[in-house]
Amino acid sequence: MEQPKDYINQHKDRFLNELLELLKIPSISADSAYKDDVIKTAEGCDTVEICETPGYPIVYGEKIIDPKLPTILVYGHYDVQPPDPLYLWDSPPFEPVIKKTEKHPDGAIFARGACDDKGQMYMHVKALEFMTANDQLPCNVKFMIEGEEEVGSESLGWFVERNREKLANDVILISDTGMIANDVPSITTGLRGLSYVEVAVTGPNRDLHSGLYGGAVANPINILTKMIASLHDENNHITIPGFYDAVEELSAAERAKMAEAPFSLDAYQNALEIESVYGEHGYSTNERNSIRPTLDVNGIWGGYTGEGAKTVIASQAFAKISMRLVPDQNWEEITELFKNHFESIAPKGVTVEVTPHHGGQAYVTPIDSMGYKAAEKAYSETFGKTPIPQRSGGSIPIVALFEKELKSKTILMGFGLDSDAIHSPNEHFGVWNYLKGIETIPWFYHYYTELFKD
Ligand code: BES
Ligand code: MN
Ligand code: MN
Repeated sequence: MEQPKDYINQHKDRFLNELLELLKIPSISADSAYKDDVIKTAEGCDTVEICETPGYPIVYGEKIIDPKLPTILVYGHYDVQPPDPLYLWDSPPFEPVIKKTEKHPDGAIFARGACDDKGQMYMHVKALEFMTANDQLPCNVKFMIEGEEEVGSESLGWFVERNREKLANDVILISDTGMIANDVPSITTGLRGLSYVEVAVTGPNRDLHSGLYGGAVANPINILTKMIASLHDENNHITIPGFYDAVEELSAAERAKMAEAPFSLDAYQNALEIESVYGEHGYSTNERNSIRPTLDVNGIWGGYTGEGAKTVIASQAFAKISMRLVPDQNWEEITELFKNHFESIAPKGVTVEVTPHHGGQAYVTPIDSMGYKAAEKAYSETFGKTPIPQRSGGSIPIVALFEKELKSKTILMGFGLDSDAIHSPNEHFGVWNYLKGIETIPWFYHYYTELFKD
């Protein structure tokens, strides 16, 4: 194959400027004003469609050069997380700027969506541009970019179930994860599942004077926090009966292999300005955030939070709780277990309501597949090092559904860093990483097609 590097060097500025334009669109999953502009993300394809769904549309494009050749399905998302709290941003989230950082001495693009996922998705568009412009496309390609990933991909599930043939492919390729470091390339081999619920605790029928009634009635906030605290024991194990029943246990050999990946606990703690990590006894930090299931409160509210003091017992208290799941936990079963348990631990004097939001299954990709081998060769080509397989703690629930509905494996070639602050203020994506991704992707196409032909 012709080196993508020369083409990338020639067109670097345009590649950057196009991404900056894309990043100016505030495509928060709750905003539909971007529609026309995302069409250009599929340029280079023969067919470009905006597929309507019950929710936000899916951008679909394909280029079929020969039905005997393999077909790669590229997936990404054009929606982004809400940018708030806005005051914590050093520059406005939808006015991208390039600034140097310690981790990104060549500069990083600061904007909401820079890394998750517009920047990473757009690497695929530019890699395809290189291949089509230079007659280097070795196989068929389909692009499917959705707009609801950050809110649970409901419409994409709907779309996939109705378009199995249209989406038929040999391998799915996604850049929506990270890697260990710019000099430590890694390929994501696992994603955690998710169960997301909201809980409401209701006590007396109105807010009460905390002097007149305090001590005599159940305070919903006291009760809710006590109930939440009881969900972990002294070893930070989750106490919901049956929660661990289906959890995949890794062998000592697999855990030893994981522990070989370079990791500095000091650097980790320093980056977060914490004195110590915290988590489930018996597991390392990297195990806690990837192969172990967890439960976290994402938000909690109730009562008086305004200025000054108000002596009041609130009638209600609320929390949003997420559970990250691992193979082979079933997210719907876990949601049910949570609901039954949480309702059962409520004392008399309050009522508890659990409302499930969304969820999804965990995913693990084998490292002996053709797709993984092709990815490994591609990274070795452009990084000069064999990439390390690494299970991630994040979730892309649609990946398990792809496997179920389309019967194909997903390869997760992520080029972001954990320090890129996705979902946080000042999200950014290294310029070097963006260009490295554009360079590596065509090599994946190349090696995958070669292996496929053998
Ligand atoms: N791209 C992320 C997931 C991710 C990031 C996986 C880094 C691995 C490494 C994705 O956009 C995301 O944020 N997913 C959500 C789940 C979704 C259902 C809201 C998540 O993990 O919280
Ligand atoms: Mn993402
Ligand atoms: Mn995200």
